[in-house]
Amino acid sequence: MFLELVNLKKLYDKNNGVKSLNLSVDKGEFITILGPSGCGKTTTLNMLGGFLKADDGQILLDGEDITKLPPEERPISTVFQSYALFPHMNVLQNVCYGLRFLCGMSKKEAIPVAKEYLKIVDLSDYENTRVGNLSGGQQQRVALARSMATNPKILLLDEPLSNLDASLRLKMRQELKTLQRKLGITMIFVTHDQEEALDISDRIAIMEKGELVQFDTPENIYKNPVNKFVREFLKLDELVWGEDGTLMKVIKKM
Ligand SMILES: Nc1ncnc2c1ncn2[C@@H]1O[C@H](COP(=O)(O)OP(=O)(O)OP(=O)(O)O)[C@@H](O)[C@H]1O
Ligand SMILES: [Mg+2]
Repeated sequence: MFLELVNLKKLYDKNNGVKSLNLSVDKGEFITILGPSGCGKTTTLNMLGGFLKADDGQILLDGEDITKLPPEERPISTVFQSYALFPHMNVLQNVCYGLRFLCGMSKKEAIPVAKEYLKIVDLSDYENTRVGNLSGGQQQRVALARSMATNPKILLLDEPLSNLDASLRLKMRQELKTLQRKLGITMIFVTHDQEEALDISDRIAIMEKGELVQFDTPENIYKNPVNKFVREFLKLDELVWGEDGTLMKVIKKM
């Protein structure tokens, strides 16, 4: 197994947080953690990224126990909801930053790698633009390029599309999926948007009140919810699946 969370736990003062999470992820999978506000999605992601210390349990990645490693020593990169870009730097400098300070590259080494990833996210024409002058969708692509350029074993994304308007959000989610398939990168994506999760994921981990309630393919979860919570949480539009298990059509309920 590529990534394994074993009895991972982080409880806050009111006994909320993440209770005891077990999750196994294959290499190259697109996993979504889905659940209502406060169910423990960000807490889980922050333990994975090393920004939050687990009370108990283990994180095993590619045969290595990374539970106690600080964020910068984990082969994991995070795209935050806010993107956390440097507004005073231009696009190229933002992408170079991670390569220089996390991967230890010289400026000369970092520039061609950064340019390659800016090409992948279709931002070659914006290399010299200050990040503060970009649109939300462009900033999101810079954040993606910056995270992917460091060649992480896992890319974590915490609601990266939530700052975008509805049509751009849909476009970016399709781009994200295409990019993930093309590069074969293992992604763990957090959202509370059911349709987004059903559309984009290989498998979805549904959480409720700090616990994993179902972990399966979108189609299986939609068609065979394990309990009332999942059934009601996914009560949305009518969905149609293709033979290869991808979401084909959303029939909007009036
Ligand atoms: N630093 C903290 N101190 C105390 N309680 C916290 C802290 N961070 C989170 N919590 C609580 O832990 C629970 C899980 O929080 P978490 O941020 O993981 O939820 P989430 O699923 O990401 O929600 P959202 O969809 O709103 O982002 C919530 O009840 C929250 O109030
Ligand atoms: Mg959150």
